[in-house]
Amino acid sequence: YTEEELYRPKFHFTPRQNWMNDPNGMFYLNGKYHLFFQHYPDSTVWGPMHWGHAISTDLVAWKEQPIALYPDEKGYVFSGSAVVDVNNTSGFASGTNPPVIAMFTYHDPKLEKEGKIDYQSQGIAFSLDEGKTWTKYSGNPVIKNPRIKDFRDPKVSWDPIHNQWVLVLAAGDESMFYKSNNLIDWEFLSYFGKDIGAHGGIWECPDFFSMSVEGTNEIKWILIQSLVSGGPNGGTGTQYFIGDFDGKTFTLDTAFKKELQDKKVMWIDYGRDNYAGVTWSNIPANDGRTLFLGWMSNWEYAEKVPTNKWRSSMTIVRALRLIKNDNHYSIVSQPIKEINNYISKSINKGDFNVEGETVLVRKPELDFSSLDIQFKIKNIKKDIYTFSFFNSFGDSLKFGINNKEKFFFLDRTKSGNLSFSVKFAPIVSIAPIKEEFINIDIEVLLDKTSIEIFYNNGKTVMTEIFFPQKPIEAFSVKSEKFNIEIEGMTINQLKFD
Ligand code: FRU
Repeated sequence: YTEEELYRPKFHFTPRQNWMNDPNGMFYLNGKYHLFFQHYPDSTVWGPMHWGHAISTDLVAWKEQPIALYPDEKGYVFSGSAVVDVNNTSGFASGTNPPVIAMFTYHDPKLEKEGKIDYQSQGIAFSLDEGKTWTKYSGNPVIKNPRIKDFRDPKVSWDPIHNQWVLVLAAGDESMFYKSNNLIDWEFLSYFGKDIGAHGGIWECPDFFSMSVEGTNEIKWILIQSLVSGGPNGGTGTQYFIGDFDGKTFTLDTAFKKELQDKKVMWIDYGRDNYAGVTWSNIPANDGRTLFLGWMSNWEYAEKVPTNKWRSSMTIVRALRLIKNDNHYSIVSQPIKEINNYISKSINKGDFNVEGETVLVRKPELDFSSLDIQFKIKNIKKDIYTFSFFNSFGDSLKFGINNKEKFFFLDRTKSGNLSFSVKFAPIVSIAPIKEEFINIDIEVLLDKTSIEIFYNNGKTVMTEIFFPQKPIEAFSVKSEKFNIEIEGMTINQLKFD
């Protein structure tokens, strides 16, 4: 197999070549979803950062575009965001097209080398042709460094409640909020995060937006905050907070705060490979979804994964929802429905009971490279339910539910090539089972080198990458003790190009 055949995902964005990390600047405009990304076009490892660019009309099939932003004498172009300035508050418009404003961090490698601490500041650039070409603002930086060493990743959004642009960025291991009327002049508002949440490493790539609680008119504010180490199963991870915002200060919801004080952390994803995720801006009101995507890797081994043409991919786009149960708010995420348009074959296994280890489907009945599997397990017992994707090489990727010790698990410790980094698969990843259930819905996306598992309609998500030595050829299920009762299992094969 060539590297392309064996490892290049089919429906997850990868750069044509060389290095990629965080998603940046995502916005929607005139039928197109834009995705920018941290990119080093000259190597498969991290280096002077550019913004790569890709466009999609359905959030599934992406077309890479020419590089959008290049590093310059002020530094590398680190992570950031973009908004469509519909009312031309910035004054950058020259015709009728609304300007698109990107805000990013300038990282000055010269100052860093000199041992200074003020080498990160915030700059902006604007585009008058829907993100195709960009002009950096001549007055950059628009936010100077206030003598904070890690000061980066501005995420701007329009705050419709207080009629202002609001900006969150990561500063050390806290978040900082700013406001503006014109996207150029920024006023500091407040800090958030001291002594609350996970602080196993510095904070990076925040996101901040309001959402209505599903099925109600109640509004809450969500802060998404990635951190570089101390994630749920090691390395990078992304936590979130739910609370209220008075236009100035973000205050945690009382019940949410209590859970955090009990040392719980709310993770967007419990797998090891979903980092620096943020949401799209300017999604039309008649769509109304909060669309999120992360970088499907982990800084502990990202530069070492065994692909040599390109390095790393993004997660599937997910729709986030805010739900409330017994006064407790949480974020759930599910893959966007657009992937259904790519189903080329459906194996409907319906309802069935199995005992012991049973192969559910194997090659050639199915091409295992791109799958979306959906089913429910009913009458869950105090048992261990293990699902496995495997090949004749002996590689297996296992996941499932340990309902005796109350956790979900994802096990890539025998999934193929692990030798590139001892940090890649030292342990089985787990996610605590927080709620009681008798039945559970599960959706699984497989795309050659990645698995994304959505338990309980997305209440718990686990995303990880893996590198089998030949393609996956079969899918099985196993329990230790009791019958497994499966309802409505559909195995969808997805086809692209
Ligand atoms: C997160 C990050 C950001 C930074 C970028 C640099 O992965 O470290 O904080 O802006 O990557 O590429």
